[in-house]
Amino acid sequence: MALRRYVCDVADVVAGELRSFTVEGVTWPVLATVLDGAIVVSAGVCPHEDVSLAGGMLMGASVICPGHGYRFDLRTGRCGHRKQLELRRYPVTIVDGQVWVDLL
Ligand code: FES
Repeated sequence: MALRRYVCDVADVVAGELRSFTVEGVTWPVLATVLDGAIVVSAGVCPHEDVSLAGGMLMGASVICPGHGYRFDLRTGRCGHRKQLELRRYPVTIVDGQVWVDLL
């Protein structure tokens, strides 16, 4: 059974903006945005050197880390600079206008 946690209301997530939300059981606030009409939620910490991505820039479907400028595709988690790095993405479920993610 998945460990499902509430993130925010659907209305809190906007296309073209990267917003961060505190989630119970997650150390760093997660990131959420809308891509191709779907809400995507990812880890809010860079897998390179533990820098918060909450201050990162959204460019198309990617977030640019403020630490060293690495680009992570929010659809896949892939890093455009180092293939071995991957930004964690959380499975999203929408229930009654609320965004929930599976942590496990
Ligand atoms: S800490 Fe994010 S790219 Fe280095």
